[in-house]
Amino acid sequence: MSAIMMRMPVISMSSTSQSPKFISPSYNSPAALPVRSLPGSYGWPLLGPISDRLDYFWFQGPETFFRKRMDKYKSTVFRTNVPPCFPFFTGVNPNVIAVLDCKSFANLFDMEVIEKKDVLVGDFMPSLKFTGDMRPGVYQDISEPEHSKVKNFSIDILKRSSKLWASELASNLDIMWDEIETSLSKSSSASFLIPLQKSMFRFLSKCLVGADPLNDPDVAESGYAMLDKWLALQLLPTIKIGVLQPLEEIFLHSFAYPFFLVSGDYQKLYYFLEKQGQEVIRRGETEFGLGKEATIHNLLFIMGFNAFGGFSVFLPSLINIIGSDKTGLQEKLRKEVREKGGSTLSFASVKEMELVQSVVYETLRLNPPVPLQFGRARKDFQLSSHESSYDIKKGELLCGYQPLVMRDSKVFEDPERFIPDRFTEEKDGNELLNYLYWSNGPQTGIPNQFNKQCSAKDYVTMTASLFVAHLFSRYDSIKGDSTSISGISKAK
Ligand code: HEM
Repeated sequence: MSAIMMRMPVISMSSTSQSPKFISPSYNSPAALPVRSLPGSYGWPLLGPISDRLDYFWFQGPETFFRKRMDKYKSTVFRTNVPPCFPFFTGVNPNVIAVLDCKSFANLFDMEVIEKKDVLVGDFMPSLKFTGDMRPGVYQDISEPEHSKVKNFSIDILKRSSKLWASELASNLDIMWDEIETSLSKSSSASFLIPLQKSMFRFLSKCLVGADPLNDPDVAESGYAMLDKWLALQLLPTIKIGVLQPLEEIFLHSFAYPFFLVSGDYQKLYYFLEKQGQEVIRRGETEFGLGKEATIHNLLFIMGFNAFGGFSVFLPSLINIIGSDKTGLQEKLRKEVREKGGSTLSFASVKEMELVQSVVYETLRLNPPVPLQFGRARKDFQLSSHESSYDIKKGELLCGYQPLVMRDSKVFEDPERFIPDRFTEEKDGNELLNYLYWSNGPQTGIPNQFNKQCSAKDYVTMTASLFVAHLFSRYDSIKGDSTSISGISKAK
C-alpha cells in the first residue's frame, strides 16, 4: 500500500451501523487543509455551456475534457459545464463542480451532505414517460420513503435469486458460446454482442423476475433489442458515440428523443413481466408496500437499465482485457480456474479464485461501466481533495468522472497500467478495495436503504468472476476484443 494511501479517509460501512459515515481523520479534516476558492468558470451565459459541450463531445472527448481542465487549474476540483445544454435543453442547468480524485469523489457517498434526487445522469433527466410516468427508485434520494421500499425490494430479489444465479448464468453462457462457435466455424471472427446480450437478457429475466422469455416468443427473440432502444433514447443526449461530426451534435445531442418511438416495446416488456413475474410482483406489493404498477416499472428499470445496461457495458471490456492480453495472463487464469473450480462453478468456488477476482476489480477500476456520478449539495459544506478544501453551497451539483478518479496516483501505484494482481492479498489489495468506486460506493461498502450504492455490488463482481471461470473451464485460450472473438482453443 502506498504511504499516501495511509492518509486517505476511510468510509466506514460496518454491517451493524445503520447509516454509513464518512470518517475524516483529524489530519484530513477540512480545517487542516488550506481553503482554496474553486477554480474554473461557467463562462458567458449560453456561450460557456455551448463551448464546453462542443469540447466534451467533439473537440476533446470526455476524458481529455476533464484532464485538460484539471491541468489548466492545477486542481482536481473545479467549476465547469457538462452537456446536455442549450438550445433545446432549456430547463437543464449544465453548471457542475467536477471532483476528480479519490478523496473529493468520496464526498459523493456522504449522504449527510449530498442529495441524490433526480441526478442519475446529471441535471438532465430523461422523460418520465420512459418509466411509466413515475420516478423509479434510482432517481430517489434516501430521504424519500419510496427509495427504501425499492432498495430493499431490489436487495431481496437478489438474495432470493442467489440459489439460481450461478447455474442459470452457466447454462445461458453455454448457449452464448455455442452460438459464437457456430459463427466462428463460418468466419474468421464472430461478433459476440448480440449473443451476449441475448444470454444476459434470458439470465436476468429468470433470476431477477422469475420470468422465462421462452414463454413469450416475441420477447425471447428481441427483448434485448427492445431494451437497447429504450436505453439509447434515454441516454443519447449525454453520451459521446463517435459518429461523424457535426452530425452527432445535430442529431444526437441537440434534443431529447420522444418516448413514443419505443412505447410499443416498453408495453410488451411490461406485460411480459406482469404475466411471467407474478410471484416477484406479489412480493413487491405485499412485503415492500409498492403498488403493482410501481413494482413492475421498478423491476423493468432494475432489470433493463441497471442490470442489463451495466453488464452490456462491463462484460465486453472484460472480454477485451482477457482476449487481447499478451502477457501470459490467460495461462494463469486457466490454472487458477482449473485448480479451484471443482466440478460445478458457484459463488463459493469463485471466491477462492483470487486472481480471477483481482482481474475483475482491475477491469472495473480502469473501465468503470458508469463513468459519471452526480450529487447535489444538501447544505453548505466544505469539500476536501488531497491538497485543499473548498466551500460548496447548498444546491450546487457535483460531478465525478470515474475513469480519472480511478487513476488517482496518490492511491493507485502506476495508475495507468493494468496490473492483473493489483487487488490480491499479497499486494494489500483488500485495503485498495476501499477506493474502488464503480458501484457508487467503495467495494468494501454495504448497499442499503441509507445509501445510493448499487444493490448488486457483490453480485456484479461474482457474476463477472463466474464469467471468467466459465470461460476457462470451457476453453484453454481465446483471442478477441471488445466486440468480437477471433480465436478459441477448446479445453483439452
Ligand atoms: C455491471 C453491472 C452494474 C453496474 C455497472 C451498476 C452500477 C450502478 C451504479 C453506478 C449505481 C449508482 C447510480 C447513481 O445513483 O449514481 C447503481 C445503482 C443501482 N443498481 Fe447497479 N449496477 C449494475 C448491476 C446491477 C444489478 C444486476 C442490479 C440488480 C438488482 C442493480 C441494481 C441497482 C439499484 C437498485 C441501484 C439504485 C440504488 C439506490 O437507489 O440506492 N445494479 N448501479
